[in-house]
Amino acid sequence: LDNGLARTPQMGFNSWNYYYCNVNETHMANAMDDIVNLGLDKLGYNYVVVDDCWALRERDAQGNMQSDPKSFPHGMKVLADRAHSKGLKFGLYSSAGYTTCAGRAASLGHEKQDAKLWASWGVDYLKYDNCDRGDVPAKKRYGDMRDALAATGRTIFYSICSWGTDGVAQWGAQYGNSWRTTDDIYNGQDAVTYNIVANDVDAAYAAPGGWNDPDMLRIGNGGQPIGLDRIQFGLWSLAKAPLILSCDLLKLSQKQLDVIRNTEVIAVNQDALGIQGRLVYDSPNQYQIWAGKQSNGDQVVAVVNLQSAGATLRLPFNLLKFAPSAQLKIRSLWDHSDLGIFSEGLDVKVAGRDCVMLRLTPVIDVSDKIFRLQPKGLP
Ligand code: DGJ
Repeated sequence: LDNGLARTPQMGFNSWNYYYCNVNETHMANAMDDIVNLGLDKLGYNYVVVDDCWALRERDAQGNMQSDPKSFPHGMKVLADRAHSKGLKFGLYSSAGYTTCAGRAASLGHEKQDAKLWASWGVDYLKYDNCDRGDVPAKKRYGDMRDALAATGRTIFYSICSWGTDGVAQWGAQYGNSWRTTDDIYNGQDAVTYNIVANDVDAAYAAPGGWNDPDMLRIGNGGQPIGLDRIQFGLWSLAKAPLILSCDLLKLSQKQLDVIRNTEVIAVNQDALGIQGRLVYDSPNQYQIWAGKQSNGDQVVAVVNLQSAGATLRLPFNLLKFAPSAQLKIRSLWDHSDLGIFSEGLDVKVAGRDCVMLRLTPVIDVSDKIFRLQPKGLP
């Protein structure tokens, strides 16, 4: 969507996959404090988004949405102000339907009034769900909200949550800044790899301004093993997916923090070129190789071991479309170490259910240029 936002995938926090309908204003305020205290804002995690259940089912006498006084007694504006005072951005949620998935007030038919109200609160981001949609076509429902947000005069990130239905990836870029390509993610290897593989077929539609969204990060949420955290964070980064945490940030272990704060992996996600990395090799239940181009001519590769035992896995460079004889300088991103210069391929040791992230830089042979720099006729 051409609103100046989402030049790189959005990063931040969303309440749903951890707090569900129990979310309250303390959770949201804590998430803001924790993001700053953990230094996550400096790494790009800027959006703090409250999902379903912030609103009452009933509108007020003027037809305005109202926040649930039990869980959000001080209302949304206070939270938006708090986010802004910390240099963060504040997001909320509604549905392109008559009620939300949890049965709260939603915005179909109220787009202009709702968008205006949210803008008056200082809202910077809308996640717009797909429940209770009646028989109104998706493009009408999502288009009406896009136009209503634009009409507020406030710049609001527009995250479409239509679960890959109605061919959303094909039109999403004209409507929103990101669009969900899959159902909700849940804990476990199958869901992580299932969502990212489903998201892969839509790769051509991702570009600065609008991104495919295979749903949130599970890291810190439900105790998935650290190797799977690395698989998810690595593949989400490579696929230019939104990096949205949904957990109690204070309960993140040091190892989990090392994953979500890895600057070299985040840089892959936030690369200015915005090309979604693809699955380039798949040996079912054994291993996968994902690869994507970066703006400086590098390629980033994820080698994912799907087996429970550690293994040495072959990365053949002919999968990567460099010049056939290219010499490649390889850096390992999780541990920030240089592996050396290689040609033709690399054997990569990957722990069971884990993922190695590599950055490959073609080595330019400068010997010929150095020779020519010598002026002729020198003794
Ligand atoms: C369905 C969405 O896919 C979830 O991410 C979440 O927003 C829930 N609805 C909320 O009801």
